Amino acid sequence: MAAALLTAAVLLVALNVVWFASGAGTRVEGGQPCAVRWYNYSSFVCVCNATYCDAPPSRPALSNGGIAHYTSSRCGQRLSLRLRSFKNPAELQSGAARLRVDTSQQFQRMLGFGGGMSDSTAINIRALSSATQQQLLRSYFGSSDGSSQYSLIRLPMGGTDFSVRNYTYDDSSKPDPSLKNFALQPEDIEYKIPLLLLAQRLSGNGLKIHAAPWSAPRWMKAHNGTIGISWLQSRYYQTWANYFVK
Ligand SMILES: *[C@@H]1O[C@H](CO)[C@@H](O)[C@H](O)[C@H]1NC(C)=O
Ligand SMILES: *[C@@H]1O[C@H](CO)[C@@H](O)[C@H](O)[C@H]1NC(C)=O
Ligand SMILES: *[C@@H]1O[C@H](CO)[C@@H](O)[C@H](O)[C@H]1NC(C)=O
Ligand SMILES: *[C@@H]1O[C@H](CO)[C@@H](O)[C@H](O)[C@H]1NC(C)=O
Repeated sequence: MAAALLTAAVLLVALNVVWFASGAGTRVEGGQPCAVRWYNYSSFVCVCNATYCDAPPSRPALSNGGIAHYTSSRCGQRLSLRLRSFKNPAELQSGAARLRVDTSQQFQRMLGFGGGMSDSTAINIRALSSATQQQLLRSYFGSSDGSSQYSLIRLPMGGTDFSVRNYTYDDSSKPDPSLKNFALQPEDIEYKIPLLLLAQRLSGNGLKIHAAPWSAPRWMKAHNGTIGISWLQSRYYQTWANYFVK
């Protein structure tokens, strides 16, 4: 889940360094520092436990023209916060590119920021002590400043490449166009749903869930399998739509 947050932060940084003098503005102190652990990939992780999790500082209300500028970096910053202003020329780097935002022209709507709740994510989270689970979910979905305030979950319908077994919600050995054997699986009941409910309770953002399948049941597909390149047989288009509704 951390990857999604990181991507969002990196995008903001990429846009912002273009036109802000680094070090300008006011650094906001506070929050809780990252408990760093290196696994020797491209960056470190921040370790949370039952009693501790890193948190960004509280963000003061912004003045007119004010900007809250968060930076995460490979060398150590994690959502460090500076307050800057569009109205203070000293904070704009001279000679650097300027970005002009035309608010009258709008493109796609952003649904929110979040992460995926696959069965493997849920199995790993459920393996933690219940206090640590709470802490972890609060750090992602909580509504306070110290949380990432995720507002979106992508929920795989059935198994994924990361699952410990292959399954969909209708693994009949014969075609089942009326979906008589459609059923949620133990992964949903024991792992995903309890965590979704917890995340929903913690979120003050009206958490949105975006359900997306990994594969249709094998009997709907041209190669009678869930792995590898194949396609839905056209006679099951309606059945597949009904599967989504269920
Ligand atoms: C939890 O993490 C904090 C910060 O890293 C650490 O000081 C504390 O000892 C940890 N607690 C346990 C029980 O490991
Ligand atoms: C990562 O690399 C550093 C420096 O090479 C080493 O000191 C550290 O023990 C390594 N950490 C792990 C978890 O392998
Ligand atoms: C899922 O099925 C594929 C193809 O039969 C197999 O290669 C893979 O190992 C299976 N995965 C699991 C977790 O059983
Ligand atoms: C599809 O594969 C399953 C499992 O191997 C098998 O039981 C079933 O008969 C196959 N269906 C067709 C139409 O080949």
